[in-house]
Amino acid sequence: MVAARWDESKDIKLIDAAERTDWSFYSGSQLTFGPGAIRALQSVITRRKFKRVLVVTDTVLSEVGIVDKAENVLSKTSADWMLFTEGEPEPSTSSVTRLAELARSYQPDLFVAIGGGSNMDLAKAAAAAFGHNMDPEQMLGFDQVPGPTPTLVCLPTTAGTGSEVTHSAVLKSAATGQKGAILSQYLRPDIAIVDPNLMLSCPSKVTAECGFDALTHAIEALLVNRWSNLTEDQEHGLPYEGNHPLGDLYAEKAISLIATNLRRALEASESIKARSGMALAATLAGMAFSSCGVSLAHALEYPIGAKYGCSHGIGNAIVLPEVMRFWMPERETQLARIAELLGVSKANTMQPREAAEAGIRMLEKLRTAVFLPSKLSEVGATGTDIQGLAEKALTAQRLLDLSPRKATADDITAMLKASL
Ligand SMILES: [Fe+2]
Repeated sequence: MVAARWDESKDIKLIDAAERTDWSFYSGSQLTFGPGAIRALQSVITRRKFKRVLVVTDTVLSEVGIVDKAENVLSKTSADWMLFTEGEPEPSTSSVTRLAELARSYQPDLFVAIGGGSNMDLAKAAAAAFGHNMDPEQMLGFDQVPGPTPTLVCLPTTAGTGSEVTHSAVLKSAATGQKGAILSQYLRPDIAIVDPNLMLSCPSKVTAECGFDALTHAIEALLVNRWSNLTEDQEHGLPYEGNHPLGDLYAEKAISLIATNLRRALEASESIKARSGMALAATLAGMAFSSCGVSLAHALEYPIGAKYGCSHGIGNAIVLPEVMRFWMPERETQLARIAELLGVSKANTMQPREAAEAGIRMLEKLRTAVFLPSKLSEVGATGTDIQGLAEKALTAQRLLDLSPRKATADDITAMLKASL
């Protein structure tokens, strides 16, 4: 990068074209938050005069009565609606195609997604595929969605992915069998209705796993490469902006909310206060990471989840502490701040290094307290797997580019070995 020059005679800073001097923050048009927020679906449909609503959900949520709650609200509007209950964990591009075909015959003017990240990602991708009459395989990657997509309302039922506010949809490619993502600012849902009441029936195991995914989002958003260090592609923009002040604001709040509420959400699963804290944390972490970015923890996790079938949250929880240790030389101050947010007592009176290390230990303690595995061996990994995992992690170039410290093949192998 070329440094800026200073012209004293004119007292203005002459900016070299190669230097990045601004960052952007993208968001949907509405976030409605709080217990009972599902009611807002009625006013959205009535005020904006939607006529045909395609509801994307799954049979598990039908069985626990969450879909009934949504249908109860829909029945108070004059709109017609259709249920698609074939949402599945890790949706594939063929599910997206199936849903887009249904949309072509039903012609909805509104998509509503109810569920965790999988259902929301399925709806996001299908709305784009329907709106642009495209094969979802062609939308995989960054900025491949050609324009705005039909209106989408997301109602999350887990506190984790933050997909209700993010610009990504994670899908399994039916063509290659590989997990990939559609990344596009057009994929950001227009409206997020985050109702903690919808999370009361979420099992404790899922609550812990999703909670650690949200925590990883917030921590990585705080620690990724700074916005000014990234070079922007003028045609496409950037998939992630890099760490910036607004991202810090959301990420810091998310970390402190998780530190306060995650354990409680497991111990007292019906606690609206704890569920609300976690729901807000996941949404804020989604806003932070979908702007600033995620990096090494997610790069390391993808091959782990694919090989051992463990959840995304478990994989993140296992590798996150080693990633934080690896970033220590570049991010000591931010790690010390994370320690404070996680509740390390007197962190602000310690030397930054001491506080940062205490913060990582605190995170490991929280991981144990919510009964998540701490080692790769607990999900079935052995020493002979490490090289293969490292090779796959090294292909996640977009995520590696956001690392504040360059990670070589040896560095990634060392982090995986330390997590074994
Ligand atoms: Fe994640």
